[in-house]
Amino acid sequence: MAEKIIIDTDPGIDDAFAIFYALRSAAFDVLGLTTVYGNASVEQTTHNALALVAAADRACPVARGASDPMEIERRAYPTMVHGEDGMGGCAPETVSGSVIDQHAVDFIIETVRAHPGEVTLVPIGPLTNIGLALQKDPGLASLTKRVVLMGGAAQLNGNVTPAAEANIYDDPHAAEMVFSADWEVVMLGLDATHDVHLTENTVAELAREGGAQGRFLQQASAQYFGFHRDVVGLDFCHFHDPSALIYCVRPDLFTVQPSSVRVVTDGFAAGKTVAKPDSRFTGQAGWEKRARVSVCLAADGYAVIEHYVSAMQAKPSAAGT
Ligand code: BDR
Ligand code: CA
Repeated sequence: MAEKIIIDTDPGIDDAFAIFYALRSAAFDVLGLTTVYGNASVEQTTHNALALVAAADRACPVARGASDPMEIERRAYPTMVHGEDGMGGCAPETVSGSVIDQHAVDFIIETVRAHPGEVTLVPIGPLTNIGLALQKDPGLASLTKRVVLMGGAAQLNGNVTPAAEANIYDDPHAAEMVFSADWEVVMLGLDATHDVHLTENTVAELAREGGAQGRFLQQASAQYFGFHRDVVGLDFCHFHDPSALIYCVRPDLFTVQPSSVRVVTDGFAAGKTVAKPDSRFTGQAGWEKRARVSVCLAADGYAVIEHYVSAMQAKPSAAGT
């Protein structure tokens, strides 16, 4: 049976790869997209989410969410990475659909409550909407099937600061709420996504074989590849957000370690995720009563990319229509 999911997202170029994949896969019943600031303003990421749903030709509700983090001042948008419009300059001027008349936080709560124990939350942006939902409805944790999030770094440096990965850095307080709630979390962060290399050749293949969506992804990712080449010094991109969706379908492609995770919320290491494997004893206070986190430590990157490409070349499923 298809897994019921809500994707909480800040599109975002890698978010676009993830959303197209999820919307065409029979493995998912995408109950909605909820948007958040992050790669651009929430107005822009919401516009982009609507554009992606239209391009995927799917009926999927989009609910606009938080415009700012829970406690800290909003960080600058990463225009160097995702462009001014969050889509590498490829966001359409106008979109046909519109958002539903409900805030993302209320949509998440209502949808999870309508399907107790069945809904997986897949946050691939800053965790503000999820933190706010937990704050508003603490009972949400026990009713959610699981959270599979893209974010964090257990054993590697961050990608925004030496300590922090972007989604956690943008709202460390929300992330700390997520990692301290009473639920199952999969933390798919840089430890795994740095094993998954998307090349321009692969994207060219998507453009040739993956129809209009493949061609859009090729255009939108040109700036993303440019950033990785010119600033990071890589001739590939790390395939962040789609990896979280692929984990849901192919967990066998990832190595996980059962752990507890805490988030540094202040100071120069703000946004750092510190993971304690369950097998490791500590007498330090503060590690009790945490989320049960499967931290992804590695991925079979070649197989993840192969899975993505073949899914994007297959005929879209009828699910979600
Ligand atoms: C994460 O940060 C964003 O820029 C990407 O969309 C991804 O969700 C990677 O660190
Ligand atoms: Ca994202």
